Amino acid sequence: MSGFAAVDVIRAKRDGGVLSDAQIDWVVDAYTRGVVADEQMSALAMAILLNGMTGPEIARWTAAMIASGERLDLSAVARPTVDKHSTGGVGDKITLPLTPLVAACGAAVPQLSGRGLGHTGGTLDKLESIPGWRAALSNEEFTAQLRDIGAVICAAGSGLAPADRKLYALRDVTGTVEAIPLIASSIMSKKIAEGTGALVLDVKVGTGAFMKSVDDARELARTMVELGGAHGVKTVALLTDMSTPLGRAIGNGVEVTESVEVLAGGGPADVVELTLALAREMLDAAGLPDADPAAALRDGRAMDSWRSMIRAQGGDPDARMPEADEVEVVRAEMDGYVAAVDAYAIGVAAWRLGAGRARKEDPVSVPAGVVLHKRPGDPVKAGEPLYELRAERAEAIPAALAEAARAVTVAARPPIPASLVIERVE
Ligand code: URA
Repeated sequence: MSGFAAVDVIRAKRDGGVLSDAQIDWVVDAYTRGVVADEQMSALAMAILLNGMTGPEIARWTAAMIASGERLDLSAVARPTVDKHSTGGVGDKITLPLTPLVAACGAAVPQLSGRGLGHTGGTLDKLESIPGWRAALSNEEFTAQLRDIGAVICAAGSGLAPADRKLYALRDVTGTVEAIPLIASSIMSKKIAEGTGALVLDVKVGTGAFMKSVDDARELARTMVELGGAHGVKTVALLTDMSTPLGRAIGNGVEVTESVEVLAGGGPADVVELTLALAREMLDAAGLPDADPAAALRDGRAMDSWRSMIRAQGGDPDARMPEADEVEVVRAEMDGYVAAVDAYAIGVAAWRLGAGRARKEDPVSVPAGVVLHKRPGDPVKAGEPLYELRAERAEAIPAALAEAARAVTVAARPPIPASLVIERVE
């Protein structure tokens, strides 16, 4: 690969130019190898955030990120493969019931997931609440479980899109996470490298999401759908509301418990609705449009699939989640209706209680989190519980209380109901 001077590539994007294929291939590869320094890539990422990228630039950048590592071959899996990716939210435990549910309906789901950072939770942190459960699988274990059970949720190996691993960590500390070209290429490089045949994207919109407006979310969704198509991965996106947390449980152990309720045929209506909407999209994209995911939740097939998936990774599906030592119940001060439960503030409250981490190497608490007794639209009487805060340490409660108090509002009239699925992009 012919060399460039990093500073020339940075200047070109700083001045609003279009990078050539050769410049993109070089800079991504040279950054992965440590030839382009972090400070140079930070400057380029900021120039991309400020000046954007054309469609062909994003496509080439994504291809270069894929080429920085290995691409898994799932051809040994007889069933059609389909994955889901959420851009991240508060109380978003949907991967937990969805993966075994779609597997129970005949597809194979190769779900490589991440950990939480800041106010959003991570699927691996939630599953690690289950005693014995192991997130790290070798490529061979991953493919074998996918072939035999059809459902795997695990950590992405270090060989997959290493350029993204490095760049994502850099963006996180340089204020460059929110660039649509960088988010789209980051997500799609990992999903394409993982080898899935089809992909459904859950692009979150609202206070608890990266994308605060429908227009931005739509642009992100369109960019990712195009990238998937260009790489032979059938990709569909749903824009879904993240102004309110999903379900009643926000935390690690509490979200596992709520997911198991959904797999048992119960659970909060919004979690069930989104799980089924995404399952239908995934089964359609996998070429199984006649499968009935609602029946698989009702008749126990999804639960059987969950139990097999958890056991295969060393987990005990019958383990009960530990109780928190400190529980603070907050009650309504007036009669009325819950007007809003702000996702961002509740995410921060759960994080302060110990459910999230401030630095990558921090541990997370299993029992910590927020449990909502009332959701937007619910009537409430003065003195009734609105929500509870759970923590391992009493010192964690006051800061979380301040956040949660900002999040939950009660008004004399009910709010206008908002729909969970806002739009479909294909
Ligand atoms: N998730 C990712 O994997 N990458 C991003 O850039 C944002 C969310």
